[in-house]
Amino acid sequence: MKRRDFLKQTSSGITAAAALTTLSSIQSVFANNLLRLEKQNNKDDYFANLRTEYLLNNEITYFNHGSIGTIPRAIHEAHTGYLKLCESNPWFYMWGEPWAKALAETREKVAEFLGCSAGELAFTHNTTEGFNLLASGLPLKAGDEVVFSSLNHAGAGQCWFHHAKEKDFSVKKFEFPIQEVPNLSKEDIVDIYAKNISEKTRVVVFPHIDNLVGIRYPVKELAKMARKKGVQYVAVDGAQAVGMVDVNLQEMGVDFYAASPHKWLQAPKGTGVLYIRKEVQPDVKPMWVTWGQERWKNSVRIFEDYGTRNLAATLTLGNAVDFQSKLNSKGAAQRRKALRDTFYQTLKNNSKFSWRSPLDADLATSLYTVELKETSSRALFKEMFEKHGYVFRPFESENRNAIRLSLNVFNTFEEIDRFNKIAG
Ligand SMILES: Cc1ncc(COP(=O)(O)O)c(C=O)c1O
Repeated sequence: MKRRDFLKQTSSGITAAAALTTLSSIQSVFANNLLRLEKQNNKDDYFANLRTEYLLNNEITYFNHGSIGTIPRAIHEAHTGYLKLCESNPWFYMWGEPWAKALAETREKVAEFLGCSAGELAFTHNTTEGFNLLASGLPLKAGDEVVFSSLNHAGAGQCWFHHAKEKDFSVKKFEFPIQEVPNLSKEDIVDIYAKNISEKTRVVVFPHIDNLVGIRYPVKELAKMARKKGVQYVAVDGAQAVGMVDVNLQEMGVDFYAASPHKWLQAPKGTGVLYIRKEVQPDVKPMWVTWGQERWKNSVRIFEDYGTRNLAATLTLGNAVDFQSKLNSKGAAQRRKALRDTFYQTLKNNSKFSWRSPLDADLATSLYTVELKETSSRALFKEMFEKHGYVFRPFESENRNAIRLSLNVFNTFEEIDRFNKIAG
């Protein structure tokens, strides 16, 4: 095609229509993949055969979805489809109409999945970026305090210390009673935070699910308590939650929620989301400042425009949501619970291990930790990985010698059984 003809077609919308067809063909391959998956696994246990849908090395038994997820072929294919399409005419896809529309649709879909409006959801790279944006952008000053616990991940904690120096506010990191975790209830958790909030507290930060012992925090109750005590901003770290448990931001009543869909939502690495409640958006100064900032005034996009981005990865978030919704409709939550219950039953009577995660059903999640009584956790990990292909997270410090297990739907009971035979 001559350059002049191409330009003519672009302005008349014909090329845009052609691009849409290609985009929709990626989507229809994806839809067929979901359909095939449904048919293939209908016969017996839907999840038992799911492993072949992933690119994971056959030698690996993956118990570390809490660190980073692995994406199914169908999602990977959609992602590479977008990447290829983009490379066929980068300028056109990065800034053209078809992908602007696709991006808006993706935002709608992800927002619906998280129970918020599209105007409240920014696309970031990860949770760490979301919290950096909040710590740098909230109007905090001398006399204000930010509160979080020792179970906060550094990605949602470190940035507050950094900006506290600059703006002269204070940060209180209180010690969470980690030894008591197996016996805690929802009410206990709310009490623990309530005791650490003072009249100075302007921001409270807590995880939806923490990465150390895997407590599912009673977000709604915590937010309610914090508001009652006069806290202005409630910020939640959803890194371990999105894709693992249902998230309904409107119901939760929080101001901010940052997450990393590359963990449990099985989205491409480096895809993050940040919810900023509409009413508090004017309070937050954007972290990225670039040309044309004016056009995003009064739009959540002012918090995500850091210049050129990997749009293909962002669009794939929509596929990850569709895939997850399919798994949810097939009983993903029950599957993960059954795996957890099996692991608990397997380890609870073994004198080499001591269970460190919540036992209360309301607080228990698919991320759990056991303390090792005889072996060093690093030594166990080394042996289990090098000789048997198991991947999990060891924690070894002065007062901790534990391993963290985080199993997703395609893990199997046989994998747990084998783990027990080798490590038990
Ligand atoms: C609870 C929690 N918060 C934050 C993070 C940081 O996530 P990211 O590196 O994707 O920003 C992690 C990562 O493991 C996490 O588990």
